Amino acid sequence: MENVQVYRDLAKRMLALVDAGTTDSASSAYRQPSSVYTDPALFAREKATIFKDEPQLVCFSSDLPEKGSYFTYDDLGVPVLLTRDNEGKVNAFLNACTHRAARLKDGCGKSASLACPYHNWGFDLKGKLRGVWQEQSFGAIDKSLYDLVRLPVEEKYGMIFVGLHQDVKVSVDEILGDLAPVFEMWDLGSTSYVNQHVWKLNTNWKLALDTFCEGYHFLALHKNTLGGISIGNTSAFDTFGPDGRNHRLAFPNESLLRLKSLPESEWGMDIFNDFQLVHFIYPNISLLVSPVSVEFFKLYPGDNPGEHRTVFRSYIRKGGEKGWDGNDPQAHFEFIRKVVDEEDYWVSANVMKNLNAGMIQFSTFGANEPALQNMHKAFLRGIGEEPVEAPVGKVGVAAAA
Ligand code: FES
Ligand SMILES: [Fe+2]
Repeated sequence: MENVQVYRDLAKRMLALVDAGTTDSASSAYRQPSSVYTDPALFAREKATIFKDEPQLVCFSSDLPEKGSYFTYDDLGVPVLLTRDNEGKVNAFLNACTHRAARLKDGCGKSASLACPYHNWGFDLKGKLRGVWQEQSFGAIDKSLYDLVRLPVEEKYGMIFVGLHQDVKVSVDEILGDLAPVFEMWDLGSTSYVNQHVWKLNTNWKLALDTFCEGYHFLALHKNTLGGISIGNTSAFDTFGPDGRNHRLAFPNESLLRLKSLPESEWGMDIFNDFQLVHFIYPNISLLVSPVSVEFFKLYPGDNPGEHRTVFRSYIRKGGEKGWDGNDPQAHFEFIRKVVDEEDYWVSANVMKNLNAGMIQFSTFGANEPALQNMHKAFLRGIGEEPVEAPVGKVGVAAAA
C-alpha cells in the first residue's frame, strides 16, 4: 500500500531546497584521482571483490511469475539459473549439470523440471537429481551427491538478489536498511516487463554509473530532453544500507512548484509525478522508480578498465499500463534508451577517451554532487583502500609521484 506521506515528506524537502536556491550537498568539492577509472590493477580488484563478493540484484519477482518459471543470468562470469519451485520459492543454482557441467537452460521461460541437453539427466525445480538417463549402463553412483550446486538467494519486496559464490551473505533488509519500508510499498514484484537494451561501451563502468548520480548535468547535457521538465542541479540526497553506501536522489520537476499554492492536506499520490527518484544500490544498480514505471539498470565491468556493459530492463508498474504522458510503455522505454544512449553514455565514452590520454590527473566532484563523493569512497573502501583526495594542482599537470 503506497503511503502518501513518504512522497509529501520528499516534496517538502525539495521545495525547501528550491526556495533556498540550494541542493543537498557535501561539505566541499572533492578531487577524485583519474586512476580509479583507468588503473588495471584497481579494476581487477573491483571485479574480484565488490562484484563477486556482494549480492547482485538480478531481476524482479515478476521475472519468475509462476511455479516452474526459470530465469538465467550470465553478467558476471558465473552462470546462474533461477527457478520458482512448486512451493513458490525461488532457488538459485550454478547453471551447470552435475554430470559433466553442461549448461541447463538459456534465457527465461517455464519448465516443470530441468533436463540436461547433453545426456538427459533430470533435476527437479529444487535442484535435486531425479534421474540418470539409461542408468543401468552408467554404473553405480550415490545420486544424493549430484544435486545442482546451490547459490545464496533471497526474494523480498519483489526483488531477487543472488550471491555468486556460496559464502556471499544475502540479506535484502540489510541492503535496503532504512528504505526497506519504501521498497516494500512499491511492490516491485507486481511490475510487468516491457523491454531490454544492452550497451557495450568503451568506457569504465563507474563513468557510466556517474551519469545516474547527480542532477548538475540535467539542464546542460539534457537541455533538449529534460529542459522544461526538471529544475536541475537540485536534489534531496539520502544514503541507506550498510555504511550508507547506497543512495537515493530525489530530483524535482518544474511542476513541483505547483504545490506551493496547495495546502499540504491536498497533496495526493499524484505528487509523485512532480519529481524523479533515482536509487543506487551498491555496487552497480541504478533503479528509477516512477508512478508508472521502473527503469532497472545493471552496470558491469568489461574485460579491461575502459570497457563496460549495461543491461537496461524497463518495467511497467501495476496501474501504469497507459504509460508515461500518454505514451505506450514501449515508447517510454525507447525515450529512456535514447536519452541514455545519445546523452549520458555518449558523454561517458568521450570522458573515457580523454582520461585514456593520461593528461587529466583528477576529476572534481562538486559539493553539489554528494552522491558521487559518497559512492566512489564506498568503492575504494570495498577493495580495502582508504580514499585519498588528489593533491591540489592545475588540471593537466601530472601529480607529483
Ligand atoms: S552433462 Fe548433463 S547429462 Fe551429461
Ligand atoms: Fe543524465
